[in-house]
Amino acid sequence: MTKGLVISGEFGNILAREKSGNKIELGELLIAKTSEGKILMQVFDLVYGSQLSQQNLELVSGLRLEEDTELELIDPKLRTYTLSKLKNILTIKNNKAMSPKTLPNFFSPVRDVTKEDFEFMSSHVPNALYFGDLRSGSKKLDVPIYLNGEKILSHHILICGTTGRGKSVLMSNLLWNIIDKDYCGMLVLDPHDEYYGRNKTGMKDHIQAKEKVEYFTPRNPPPGCRHLKFNIKQMLPHHFNGVVDWSDPQRQALYAYFKAYGRDWISSVLLEKEIEGVKFFEGTIAVIKRRLMQLLKLEVHNEEINCKGIFDLNLGEGTIKDIVNSLEETKTVIIDTSEFSENVEILIGSLIASEVLDRYKNYNFEDLKKKPVVSIVLEEAPRVLGKEVLEKGSNIFSTIAREGRKFKVGLTAITQLPSLIPRTILANMNTKIILGIEMKPERQALIESAAQDLSTDDRNIAALDKGEAIISSNFASFAMPIKIPFFDLIVKNEKQEHIPSFAGVKK
Ligand SMILES: Nc1ncnc2c1ncn2[C@@H]1O[C@H](COP(=O)(O)OP(=O)(O)OP(=O)(O)O)[C@@H](O)[C@H]1O
Ligand SMILES: [Mg+2]
Repeated sequence: MTKGLVISGEFGNILAREKSGNKIELGELLIAKTSEGKILMQVFDLVYGSQLSQQNLELVSGLRLEEDTELELIDPKLRTYTLSKLKNILTIKNNKAMSPKTLPNFFSPVRDVTKEDFEFMSSHVPNALYFGDLRSGSKKLDVPIYLNGEKILSHHILICGTTGRGKSVLMSNLLWNIIDKDYCGMLVLDPHDEYYGRNKTGMKDHIQAKEKVEYFTPRNPPPGCRHLKFNIKQMLPHHFNGVVDWSDPQRQALYAYFKAYGRDWISSVLLEKEIEGVKFFEGTIAVIKRRLMQLLKLEVHNEEINCKGIFDLNLGEGTIKDIVNSLEETKTVIIDTSEFSENVEILIGSLIASEVLDRYKNYNFEDLKKKPVVSIVLEEAPRVLGKEVLEKGSNIFSTIAREGRKFKVGLTAITQLPSLIPRTILANMNTKIILGIEMKPERQALIESAAQDLSTDDRNIAALDKGEAIISSNFASFAMPIKIPFFDLIVKNEKQEHIPSFAGVKK
């Protein structure tokens, strides 16, 4: 159905007049036909147009308001109308999509998109991961969006949106869809304890949860799940980068203890053991000791170390290795960090992420090819990837952001505030899933670092409703508007599919 006609404009800013009665929406996808094929366009702005001069418009409105007269100077359908500003996104020809290089003809009709227009996307996607359904404005289309999960995960994902717009719902969907995939393992640091679904719908409800989901928690692990414990002998001085802001003399002291006592360095600091031939300023050791004790919840009584938290002198020796093994077995490992301070959560992430990256770096090329991608899910990512933190020095997460993809280790970073992340890191996150964002500087940070040109999409992003998003990715043919399904509904529908009906036949 014709929704309007192209009337003027320029490349990337085409003006179309709307046919009366057709409410063209911001973000809507439209098609214009040309001799070169179909041109896919998207509405990025809407403005009023009129045949009447401003003076006449004021006259007509004045008569209506003051005299109650329905004066019409021209047929109302011709008199005033809406103009849509469109950007050309793709040229589609013979089921292939190309970057647009031409404009639609003057007076070309524009019409709604249909499922058939997107047949060019239906060819086989390797390691297909479902993100949601294509969306035109606020209308969901029957076009599921699959992208290459292995590529997307190893080249980092950024999920951003104002609070309450659906970041966690989207993350739950992705985790759910990934559980049974054999190309990746997911490590989820979960500060809100929301993904496993201890008391609500979550990954525990997946049909393969038993084999493929592991849950570590410091409190009352549900049956089959594990108590979270780490052994302090597994901790190295560099694990504290980005966790504790050491001064130079303090850092030197840490390394000196590690050199002298190896894996027993933490207990040696706590027991204030001497290092032969090395003299520290007294205050330095006292500060390190106090900070380590606070962070790791350790106490010293009568030359003995007592462990009060998850960091232990004797237990938890295999935790890190077990978790990394599970990730290599393409499992989803969820760690409940809801009870910990931010620093402890980051320390836990740092312990595991360092082991993953070290292990993957040590594989030779052929072995690495056979390994699954490992992606590390980070909520509130600027805590570890923020400019302020990184000014003090790099940490394992910024290292992964820069070089992880070479070793098949990626980040899935979630944030409300992308502008706090340095541009170089934002640019390295090759897939951005943008949900509704209210603050302009945040939208700007994304627009400037997106894989596709989103320079006219500011309004579109501001207008995104709950569950609506734009995927901009180096692995997508255009910046795709999507509607994200509601997680609880996905789970409910899948569960129904797995309940055999009375006839014994699957529904
Ligand atoms: N795709 C969706 N479809 C329908 N409703 C949704 C969708 N996504 C989110 N919602 C609704 O919005 C609520 C908030 O979503 P969610 O918790 O995912 O937001 P968030 O972006 O993670 O917020 P926060 O920044 O506070 O963590 C959900 O509880 C749900 O009611
Ligand atoms: Mg959330």
